Amino acid sequence: MASEETPKAGPSHVAIIMDGNGRWATSRGKPRLFGHHAGAKRVREIVEACPEVGVKYLTIFAFSTENWKRTQSEVAGLMSLFRRYITAEAKALNKKGVCVRFIGDRVRLDPKLVKLMDDLEELTADNTSVNLTIALNYGGRDEVARAIKRVAQDAASGVIDADSVDESTLTRYLDTRVLPDPDLVIRTSGEARISNFLLWQSAYSEYEFIDTLWPDFTAEIFADIIENYGGRERRFGAVLSET
Ligand code: FPP
Repeated sequence: MASEETPKAGPSHVAIIMDGNGRWATSRGKPRLFGHHAGAKRVREIVEACPEVGVKYLTIFAFSTENWKRTQSEVAGLMSLFRRYITAEAKALNKKGVCVRFIGDRVRLDPKLVKLMDDLEELTADNTSVNLTIALNYGGRDEVARAIKRVAQDAASGVIDADSVDESTLTRYLDTRVLPDPDLVIRTSGEARISNFLLWQSAYSEYEFIDTLWPDFTAEIFADIIENYGGRERRFGAVLSET
């Protein structure tokens, strides 16, 4: 039984909804893209902080299936930012032993961006210090729908038996198939919503909603949240002890 002297394990997998870039920029009289650029700089700081706070898996929400509804210039600016980010950060991420993966539907993305994503995944595939997953054109419902489509195709062609389909089958068809479920989901900027992020995977995750806007999110704030998580008892629907 845990006592005050035995700290609970910290979260191994942390997922972050990086919200508030637009408001951060607007409050400074700058265009929204200025906030996205400031937000991109924070990603490096938080990835580098992961080994220090014991986080093995970091999953970040960079662009949702709904974000296409933003203005054409914001979408184009974000896509260009992703290309520049991957090009500029690839070497440093690899040197630090970060294994990078992307989740989301690549079909709608520019082939040049997809090539950069594929190359970065390949370059960093054997790294083990931190597993960074970037959700790009990702939506939880879209991911589940795409998974079900493939399950149905495999059942129709006899690869799997439809009667044997269960939760673990679907888990194996999701984009996140090689990742553990997130222990903790953080959302910045004061909004308490999950916005279609890791719907299936976060069924038993803890949530932390904080007011800080993403470009102001620091390694210190991250470390405080991780430390605070150590005090939570996760029950996964069970009753662990009689009181
Ligand atoms: C939400 O803020 C943020 C996004 C839609 C984009 C997230 C992208 C980044 C942090 C930049 C780069 C990431 C990588 C991996 C290079 P918002 O625009 O919705 O802010 P608002 O709610 O204040 O308008």
